[in-house]
Amino acid sequence: MIQLDISRARKFISDDEYIHARTLAQSGLEQLKEGTGPGSEWLGWRELLAEPNDKLLAEIQDLATSVRSSADVFIVCGIGGSYLGAKAVIDALRSEFDQSGPEIIYAGHHMGGAYLNHLVGYLNEPKADGSAKSVYLNVISKSGSTLETALSFRVLRNFIEERFEDASNRIICTTSKQGGVLNAVIEKEGYRKFIIPSDVGGRFSVLTPVGLLPIAVAGIDIAVLFQGAKECYDSLEENSEEIVEYAALRNALHAKGITIDVFSSFEPELKSFGGWIQQLLGESEGKDGKGIFPTVAAFSTDLHSLGQFIQDGKRSLLETFLVVEEASSDFVVPSGDHFGDGLDYLNGESFHAINNKARLGTIEAHCEGQVPIITVQIPRMEEHSIGALIYFYEMLTGVFVYSLGVNPFNQPGVEDYKKAMYRLLGK
Ligand code: PA5
Repeated sequence: MIQLDISRARKFISDDEYIHARTLAQSGLEQLKEGTGPGSEWLGWRELLAEPNDKLLAEIQDLATSVRSSADVFIVCGIGGSYLGAKAVIDALRSEFDQSGPEIIYAGHHMGGAYLNHLVGYLNEPKADGSAKSVYLNVISKSGSTLETALSFRVLRNFIEERFEDASNRIICTTSKQGGVLNAVIEKEGYRKFIIPSDVGGRFSVLTPVGLLPIAVAGIDIAVLFQGAKECYDSLEENSEEIVEYAALRNALHAKGITIDVFSSFEPELKSFGGWIQQLLGESEGKDGKGIFPTVAAFSTDLHSLGQFIQDGKRSLLETFLVVEEASSDFVVPSGDHFGDGLDYLNGESFHAINNKARLGTIEAHCEGQVPIITVQIPRMEEHSIGALIYFYEMLTGVFVYSLGVNPFNQPGVEDYKKAMYRLLGK
């Protein structure tokens, strides 16, 4: 299902270094599977797949179908793990030019006043036929108190309540079962609610209502997405060798001083997926002075910005290519001998084939530039493969971070900016 190739990175590690790192990765796997590592109260993302809740999936799909039939705009209001998973899947599987369902807009992930002002202005603008836009809002916050999300929610809720008589029908909240300010608001206003399981942390929550509702509203088949993740779960429960190898390699490269992992893809649709991995790994591993800083590059676009550094700059990085085997489209170069643009050697060639050659050429060049390279390949850009890739990276994160001797499931560092911000705001 997922093909991992570590051969171009393995050669940077001696056999002894690899054997040592494998022992650490194996122990990371055992801690994760047996629930004996730090943060083991946060392993609900594995339980979700061990025992899928089909009733909940159907409930989410039903609501999404009804929202799709009446919404022009669906706003996803959340930050970090509360929106990156949905955005990753939606950007991967729904064309940005697709107008068959509601427009999906993200808010609550920053406090840019201009953005919110322009967003409200846009929501207020009538459609081409002069009628008002039908707007739905999904606020997603496990704590129910994150300032970026809560402030944006206040603005957007205010807009919806002023504009629509059935406001309580249009506001859907995804939060913890109880506690938090958002739950008090839900109770007071009677908004609809989905629950985030208490044992699933934000960045591991894409396969809960956090990610599944927006993904379903975008018209993506959540049952197949979930099934892909479930099959990956089942296969890794049976044999976790690939995860152990991957975690061991990353561990050994970390020990050798690699400090940056560039997640690259030649599929522009996977850039947000890289963003989700960036948060999943970054917030999980970057603690106690340890970790490899995950970053994202969209190729070939970023070969013209970061390419020089990757090829020839300070040798402290690792590159991970996310690859899609089958073409998502058979779009080809228009043929003809009248263009005069020197491109006739590509007449009739598919863009998938050209893009593949660009990838292989880049890998060749970066290998010569002494960059350790990992490739992770999925068969197709569709729900099943993306679901599998989600679980694959969740599992890798748990095993790798345990192999570093770090708790993957907390984020104490995120609290530090909040404390300083709240003090300055006079909270
Ligand atoms: O992964 C995490 O736990 C974080 O990124 C959270 O998702 C993020 O901070 C948002 O928190 P909340 O959902 O409580 O608003």
